[in-house]
Amino acid sequence: MRLNFYKFAAHLEVMIDQIKNYIKEAEAFTSEKLDEVEAFRIKFLGKKGILNEFFAEFKNVPNEQKKEFGQSINQLKQTAQAKVDELKLKIESQKDEAGIYGDLTRSAQPSEIGARHPISIVKNQIIEIFANIGFNVSEGPEIEDDWHNFTALNLPEYHPARDMQDTFFIQTNPEDILLRTHTSSVQVRYMENNQPPIRTISPGRVFRNEDISARSHCIFHQVEGLYIDKNVSFADLKQTLLYFTKQLFGKSKIRLRPSYFPFTEPSAEVDIYWGLETETDYRITKGTGWLEIMGCGMVDPNVLKNCNIDPNTYSGFAFGMGIERIAMLLYQIGDIRMFYENDLRFLKQFKSVV
Ligand code: DAH
Repeated sequence: MRLNFYKFAAHLEVMIDQIKNYIKEAEAFTSEKLDEVEAFRIKFLGKKGILNEFFAEFKNVPNEQKKEFGQSINQLKQTAQAKVDELKLKIESQKDEAGIYGDLTRSAQPSEIGARHPISIVKNQIIEIFANIGFNVSEGPEIEDDWHNFTALNLPEYHPARDMQDTFFIQTNPEDILLRTHTSSVQVRYMENNQPPIRTISPGRVFRNEDISARSHCIFHQVEGLYIDKNVSFADLKQTLLYFTKQLFGKSKIRLRPSYFPFTEPSAEVDIYWGLETETDYRITKGTGWLEIMGCGMVDPNVLKNCNIDPNTYSGFAFGMGIERIAMLLYQIGDIRMFYENDLRFLKQFKSVV
């Protein structure tokens, strides 16, 4: 296209107007379809597109107007290119969102971590403390027979001590199948199936036909401990329990009060010295400073015999404690029912404890 100067000047103005219109057109363009965006790209930016036509004119533009003309076509180029990029990105990201993985570039949502139940926390602590001195973990069924829950533990039929634990019977005629009233049933099962040396602790759920109150529940948890070997003495029992109470409560004074359990002889109740520093200490220890935390004793020779272990060769000790009671002491929880209500305001307080 060769034009004389005046004609070209008019032509240039027309072209600049055209470019301005194209810029407006490019700015206004929108589409959600890739092929339409591609058509737009070819129209403006393709080899035979609008921009290249204007660029071809550039050499004909007089020097003084090259700047204005050049700026206009550059602006058009940038506008068209930006529009293509923007629309392509938008269409691609919509595709990703619809895909099975969603948008992989999206930052992760912080998800709330759950909390362990305080009973589990305390149970795991007890297991760990005994694992450190060689105890393994054993478990038994919650639905038990009379032999493992009572008879083998030196509680024959009509033994008055059976009344110490109100039992839920499942089969009542004869009264033979029941919900275990303590985890001592697991020590019977363990001794029946393993020969000494035995070092085991048995955590689990137990059931008693008792009224529910702030202090007691009909379902709760216990941990049973059993140690059988040659020459196991009462001193071993006391040292083991002292180690345990130091580890769990950080208290280093205990006392063993004579007591009675059919399956141990002699038997004792274990108290820890909690102290009398605060008002709470006074309240929970009833002003004595002492707190009862478990029962224990030397395994009765009758129990060893019932489980096919020779009482002339072996001796051992056993102990049993309620997990709820210990958790209530550790966390200063005033009502046992809180453990079973599943109130998130209560449970969330144990969040930071692993
Ligand atoms: N089984 C007893 C209870 O439920 C607790 C217990 C006391 C277990 C003394 C023992 C023990 O092993 O030696 O009350």
